[in-house]
Amino acid sequence: MSALLEVADLRKSFAGGRSLFGGARPMVRAVDGISFDLARGETLGLVGETGSGKSTLGRLVLRLIEPSAGQVRFEGQDVTRASRTAMRALRPRMQMVFQDPYGSLDPRMTAGEIVAEPMTAHGMARAEAMRRANDLMEQVGLRRAMATRYPHEFSGGQRQRIGIARAIALDPALVVLDEPVSALDVSVQAQILNLLAEIQARSSVAYLFIAHDLAVVRHVSDRVAVMYLGRIVEIAPRDALYGAPRHPYTVSLLSAVPRPDPAREKSRIRSRPIGEIGSAAALPSGCRFHPRCPRARLVAARGGETLPAAGTHLPRACVEQDPVPAPVGAAAHLAACHFPDET
Ligand SMILES: Nc1ncnc2c1ncn2[C@@H]1O[C@H](COP(=O)(O)OP(=O)(O)OP(=O)(O)O)[C@@H](O)[C@H]1O
Ligand code: SF4
Ligand SMILES: [Mg+2]
Repeated sequence: MSALLEVADLRKSFAGGRSLFGGARPMVRAVDGISFDLARGETLGLVGETGSGKSTLGRLVLRLIEPSAGQVRFEGQDVTRASRTAMRALRPRMQMVFQDPYGSLDPRMTAGEIVAEPMTAHGMARAEAMRRANDLMEQVGLRRAMATRYPHEFSGGQRQRIGIARAIALDPALVVLDEPVSALDVSVQAQILNLLAEIQARSSVAYLFIAHDLAVVRHVSDRVAVMYLGRIVEIAPRDALYGAPRHPYTVSLLSAVPRPDPAREKSRIRSRPIGEIGSAAALPSGCRFHPRCPRARLVAARGGETLPAAGTHLPRACVEQDPVPAPVGAAAHLAACHFPDET
């Protein structure tokens, strides 16, 4: 069986605009060669620091923005080159839920109208769409009577339920969720995550779930992909990624929580990335993680050929060769590192 979604070498650059002094700024390579697939009913979690390109990737997958290169196939169809008519037919099958439900819900429309809109836009009669909207309100844990209220009359969690009802109105096969619970209180987060799980159990919808909270991603995902400066640096089944991470960036993300045990605390500090995330407008040579990589420093200290880089000496491979994601250990576990066994 073919995958629901197949992404191949997807790229998106943004023009950098002009600097204060009039010179053209370099292009921002927000998504810089990403490949993965997603099965029906599966949840792929997508994590990475701010600016790593998660939202850009989500928008590219749904073709809300045009890619610079690469391909997205959805249910066997080439989304990147689909005509307007073909896209119109595809739209209901792939939907998005945003972080800020308030910003994405029209304040002048009632909740019922908001949920019904994709259905009427797709040719359903208004009365039928409003009837379905009332059913959907119930399915997402709201009362039917609430359909006549306006967005400002709802709490943050309730607004996110409206956003979800609207997204599932046309029974999509894929929903991209961009930080869907980041703006919500922890107790409300759990309710929304449970709702998403119920919907998936019922409908076999697949989720691309974007978040920076690793605990949330662990809770909801079948597989997890870790992004760093426009690339997926590691992708694996959930338990393999959390239990035996192979890329030093993943190791550092997972060790960001302080440990009470002194020995573990020491290893946590050793695995911390150095400095801040770089810029997608000025990508480092070779492995783009090399300026921050604790593992490259350990490998260099043990000998072997090194080059001066990032104010120290680092393994030649790290400075000169861009690592591609390659299988490490368990099936379907890929990491983009020249030294994946140095854990
Ligand atoms: N429309 C745009 N024009 C120019 N640059 C953009 C645009 N959209 C995104 N970028 C840049 O692309 C990079 C990736 O941004 P993106 O929003 O995809 O990251 P993200 O991982 O979703 O971050 P966050 O966790 O903050 O939401 C950043 O450097 C960002 O500044
Ligand atoms: S290739 Fe080198 S710099 Fe990149 S993650 Fe691996 S050890 Fe670090
Ligand atoms: Mg984002």
